[in-house]
Amino acid sequence: MTMYLIDLSPQDMARRLRDALSVYVDAMRYPRGTEEQRASMWLEHSRRNGWKAVAAVCVDDPSEPHGAGPADLDSGTDIADAPLLGVAYGYCGAPDQWWQQQVIHGLRRGGMLPAEIDRLMSSYFELTELHIHPRAQGQGLGEALARRLLSDRTEANVLLSTPEINGEANRAWRLYRRLGFADVIRDYHFAGDPRSFAILGRGLPLEHSAE
Ligand SMILES: CC(C)(COP(=O)(O)OP(=O)(O)OC[C@H]1O[C@@H](n2cnc3c(N)ncnc32)[C@H](O)[C@@H]1OP(=O)(O)O)[C@@H](O)C(=O)NCCC(=O)NCCS
Repeated sequence: MTMYLIDLSPQDMARRLRDALSVYVDAMRYPRGTEEQRASMWLEHSRRNGWKAVAAVCVDDPSEPHGAGPADLDSGTDIADAPLLGVAYGYCGAPDQWWQQQVIHGLRRGGMLPAEIDRLMSSYFELTELHIHPRAQGQGLGEALARRLLSDRTEANVLLSTPEINGEANRAWRLYRRLGFADVIRDYHFAGDPRSFAILGRGLPLEHSAE
């Protein structure tokens, strides 16, 4: 089996939405049925300015043994329909977006000066979703997807939110720290969500991997 990283167009995402949401629900260990709640939001996101999505797919190919890591390949017809192992997307942050409004609210409450908030929030890519199916986790695919998603961005910063975990002890946290993400807000509660989140961010571009 060979793994490939591909870009997804908005049309690809619409066509493969069920598969992408299934990876998301399995990765996050959310209850079945969450897919239906998220479908329209993911489609709406795909119409936002600067939206980009990437995916990891696997292809059975007995003639080519699996290499050390995922191959880079542009979207081709067979590849675009291959089983999905991971999906990630994001878009350019904007003032009319709920997430930006929430984060600015948190920054103000934390005492950040308006000029500093403006510097951070006037040009950023929101890394909205990054998920690898549990059976494919721990092989570097998440990092590869994040790097592909963040390559060639023109925004000054990248921001994301991730659930707070005791001791930052999960793969998401390890990955974000390895990629150089720093604390923007800790222990933040988005309106209507009882869970505690961290907002993390860093400047762009990302350095190349050490390999
Ligand atoms: C978070 C997540 C996207 C990370 O993706 P991943 O592919 O599992 O992990 P990474 O790309 O960071 O891979 C790193 C791991 O693979 C191992 N690895 C193996 N080969 C590797 C390679 N060539 N390059 C990098 N890491 C490699 C590393 O040792 C590391 O293991 P460790 O985490 O046990 O220390 C994924 O685990 C996931 O979907 N988790 C559940 C959903 C989630 O939390 N999403 C984020 C919500 S904000």
